Amino acid sequence: MGMDEIIVGLDIGSGKVCTVVGELGEDDQIEIIGIGTAPSLGIRKGVIIDLDQAIQSVKESIESAERMAGTRFNSAFVSIAGSHITSVNSKGVIAISGESPEITENDIEKVIEAAKAGIISSDKELIHTLSREFIVDGQSGISDPLGMSGARLECKVHIVTGSITAVQNLIKCVEGAGLDIEEIIFGTLASSNAILSNAEKDLGVLLIDIGAGTTEIAIFVEGGLAYSAVLPVGGIQITNDLAVGLRTSIEEAEKIKINYGSTVENNVSPEKLVAISGIDGKDKNNVSQKYLVEIIEPRVSEIFDLIGTEVRKSGCYNMIPGGIVVTGGSSLLPGISEVAEQVLNLPSRLGRPHYEGELADMVNDPSYSEAIGLLSFATEKYSIGRSFQSTKRKTGAKNIFTKIISWLKDFF
Ligand SMILES: Nc1ncnc2c1ncn2[C@@H]1O[C@H](COP(=O)(O)OP(=O)(O)OP(=O)(O)O)[C@@H](O)[C@H]1O
Ligand SMILES: [Mg+2]
Repeated sequence: MGMDEIIVGLDIGSGKVCTVVGELGEDDQIEIIGIGTAPSLGIRKGVIIDLDQAIQSVKESIESAERMAGTRFNSAFVSIAGSHITSVNSKGVIAISGESPEITENDIEKVIEAAKAGIISSDKELIHTLSREFIVDGQSGISDPLGMSGARLECKVHIVTGSITAVQNLIKCVEGAGLDIEEIIFGTLASSNAILSNAEKDLGVLLIDIGAGTTEIAIFVEGGLAYSAVLPVGGIQITNDLAVGLRTSIEEAEKIKINYGSTVENNVSPEKLVAISGIDGKDKNNVSQKYLVEIIEPRVSEIFDLIGTEVRKSGCYNMIPGGIVVTGGSSLLPGISEVAEQVLNLPSRLGRPHYEGELADMVNDPSYSEAIGLLSFATEKYSIGRSFQSTKRKTGAKNIFTKIISWLKDFF
């Protein structure tokens, strides 16, 4: 099997760096053969703040994935997050000129360019241009207008940009760790591939990824990304609240959160006492599990309040009957989905990857949604590319290629 059949996803999170290695079979099925995580150093709120430390963390995660996979690799699909990411909807319009009023690929590129015009400020770098729909002579809802007749072509796009410095540092970090970048993909767009069904995306759904340092949200309407935002809060704040409230160290608070934390009282027995070592690491203190809920629940509610503000800002609140899907490591807090339902007044479920191969037990964890999503995003691209390669001499093959990737297509 050649090197080109190894596909790698790299998620540089605020809590951990995660490398997932997949092998693409002839049947276009991906088999995960390695996974490597390392604690993140030099990364805060999704952004690299210390390049050398971040490179070390990424290297450690790559090496551990290589060991497990029993193979080396030299490139990866990499996700990007952080509150520097901005995401806007825009619209472009062009008149179709030429002898016959038939829409060509050139027209499609031109209308997308028109939609991008003036949107990207000088301190921002384009990450994705996702076409949401085309409108031909007022007829909306067209996903691929190629070859259609018309005089006026409009395109609605969703544009994701990131700060130039954050993107450059991400590139430096990955290259510094010895890998080439195949493509940079917006984190929630990647996660959505692993945990949302097409039916949910079509119906309208809100994806929430609560990680360590960030909470990423993405709204999908009519199958495509319609709104996204990255909030600078996550599990670290919950741990900090516990450390302050329990007068203990961050390390102890993190352990207590993972082992005994909950957002709902009916989930814990009121008499249950948890022993906590004091800030000096010695004196033990007993607190009730109910007290932990009293510290954790307000912070979790606050995170969903902030999300609510974003959702209202998006104007999409009434377009998500598919409800909420919560993922990310912090979604492991018992009762979190119920809190989401209460605060946002929408049905909610937990989301995790549903990989079915040998490493399923390890991989189907909500903190791996983004890394697994990268792999599924990449696989889709590879398999489309592969069928394109083998059929490209036949007429029309290019059309199929363009059509399938139309809304994933980016003009990086
Ligand atoms: N069982 C658990 N209960 C509660 N919280 C948990 C549990 N397991 C992990 N977490 C929390 O999940 C967070 C890590 O989540 P995740 O791995 O998704 O973050 P990340 O991708 O590294 O960070 P980010 O996406 O914010 O950059 C940590 O804050 C951790 O405390
Ligand atoms: Mg994450």
